[in-house]
Amino acid sequence: MFTDTHCHLEDENFSGDRAEVLERAKIAGVDKIINFGSTMQSSAAIVELAENFSQLYGGVGIHPEEIDDFDENSCAKLAELAADKKIVAIGEIGLDYHWEKDSERRLIQQKIFIAQLDLARQLDLPVCIHDRDAHGDTLKILQSEGKNLRGVLHCYSGSLETAREIWKMGWFIGVDGPLTFKNSAKLPEVVKAAPREMILIETDAPYLAPVPYRGKRNEPAFVVEVAKKLAELRGETLEEVAAYTTANAKNLYRLK
Ligand code: NI
Repeated sequence: MFTDTHCHLEDENFSGDRAEVLERAKIAGVDKIINFGSTMQSSAAIVELAENFSQLYGGVGIHPEEIDDFDENSCAKLAELAADKKIVAIGEIGLDYHWEKDSERRLIQQKIFIAQLDLARQLDLPVCIHDRDAHGDTLKILQSEGKNLRGVLHCYSGSLETAREIWKMGWFIGVDGPLTFKNSAKLPEVVKAAPREMILIETDAPYLAPVPYRGKRNEPAFVVEVAKKLAELRGETLEEVAAYTTANAKNLYRLK
């Protein structure tokens, strides 16, 4: 069995065939799926989905590209949503300097990121981090503001050096479709060096479909392709990868 530890099934791309997508996941052996919010509205939708489908769990949070959605009431509203039993994390939160070039707005991203780290600590929930082209500041903030927190750098795209710092903190890296791409750069080197208890697999569906589905809509069933690539690169069997990544997901997110 596999766990897809990061996707967005509330996305409108799934509004026509969500039940079929979940059925295909089940057939592929993906029996647990964690959706992550990026706005208040998507976070609320994720709570509702998790209530309606037994295999779905969720994380609630405001994504760094959605900072205009954050106001002084947001943490209280997120805490209310997070009170649901199927909500297992705060996320996705973090920094995105790829799409945000303005230095003032990057500072706002940092403030909102730190506020949500504080919220996770108050609620005793793990966090799911989005870090795009902001590896230095993300690591700095986690090292200074991440005390007594656990979490994952989702869709990991940093260096092996940064990954080693993450593992030292006891945090996970999330690996997705880009591992299967020809131009996957540093990622194969990172996953080969990763301790097995520090790796999670994810799809980030509907984005980033792995080979051989690259360019199509991604879905949780395809997380098996990421697991296959991990097995190949690390010289392990698919069964081993399934077993330890599932155990890691259960451990971080306290899945029942
Ligand atoms: Ni995502």
